[in-house]
Amino acid sequence: MFVKNAWYVAGWSHEIGRTPLERWITGDPVVLYRTEGGRAVALEDRCAHRLAPLSMGKLVGDAIQCGYHGMTFDCDGNCVRLPGQAAIPKAAKVRKYPLVERFGWAWIWMGDPARADAAAIPNFFWLDHPEWKPVGGTIYCKSNYFLLIDNLLDLSHETFLHGSTIGNAAVAEAAVETEADDTAVRVRRRMPNCAPPPLFRKARNFAGNIDRSQVIDFSPPCYAVVDARAVPAGTNDIDNGIEWRVINALVPESEGTTHYFWAVSRHFALDNRELDEIMQKGVVHTFGEDIMMTEAQQKRMARPSADPKHVTIKADAAPIAARKIVSRLVQNEASAAA
Ligand code: FES
Ligand SMILES: [Fe+2]
Repeated sequence: MFVKNAWYVAGWSHEIGRTPLERWITGDPVVLYRTEGGRAVALEDRCAHRLAPLSMGKLVGDAIQCGYHGMTFDCDGNCVRLPGQAAIPKAAKVRKYPLVERFGWAWIWMGDPARADAAAIPNFFWLDHPEWKPVGGTIYCKSNYFLLIDNLLDLSHETFLHGSTIGNAAVAEAAVETEADDTAVRVRRRMPNCAPPPLFRKARNFAGNIDRSQVIDFSPPCYAVVDARAVPAGTNDIDNGIEWRVINALVPESEGTTHYFWAVSRHFALDNRELDEIMQKGVVHTFGEDIMMTEAQQKRMARPSADPKHVTIKADAAPIAARKIVSRLVQNEASAAA
């Protein structure tokens, strides 16, 4: 069960072009393409005739022609051509999804189009602001999206899972503050006077220990942004420190699979190309470890005889609060529909 009345990242803008792109989002098949004028379009990827994927067809001008029997739909989803038949049945249409491009991502609204308000798109300005330098990518993950949200809201795992990049002993031991309301969850962790983890040392030449902090913001349905900072211990010297945002869009493809769109945008050494590469490699390696773990969890949770019982600890406060927010939204949509 997914929240439908929400903006999801459907893809990077640069992925959408004149070749139809199939992407399943919250269990529904979507085809993405660009009109000749350059506008990105999202339609239901299921022909109105015999349900063939439109993404297997081809673009004819701004319309898409089904690759099976040639029924053709304009970018509003209306059938405009039916080979061998002049009268087009009323029902010959496919669903059109609201789609907005912002910050280099294409945002899709999977619910009631009348409720799609572009002002509700999260403000991820770090992705295309001149004072920030992002690296980013997409990872396909064979686990439920909430295992990835759990992962980001409980970063104590960095100590154990990410020792070669961003983990140090301080993360797991640090006291955590969690704040939550009906719409958002925030986790704060301060790690004074700790040893800089390997990726931090590569990004900045810290001579000694650092004061490290993390603020993680969850917003529904599937976003977690990490504000990570480090300064030489005992100083407020951010000019010689690290400040970056890790922007995570955990977009459910199905109950058991996730499109993980990510970016890490830093606020220092913007022109350092070598650092771009170090960051890209370091993050891909780190997230690879996360995916390996959540996919392994998924296998154990999803087997038919699995006992769902598990032990809850203090560090689960934020993941639990986030699940509550999303469950409430899903329930509200279900009762509104009933
Ligand atoms: S399935 Fe698309 S035209 Fe027949
Ligand atoms: Fe991680």
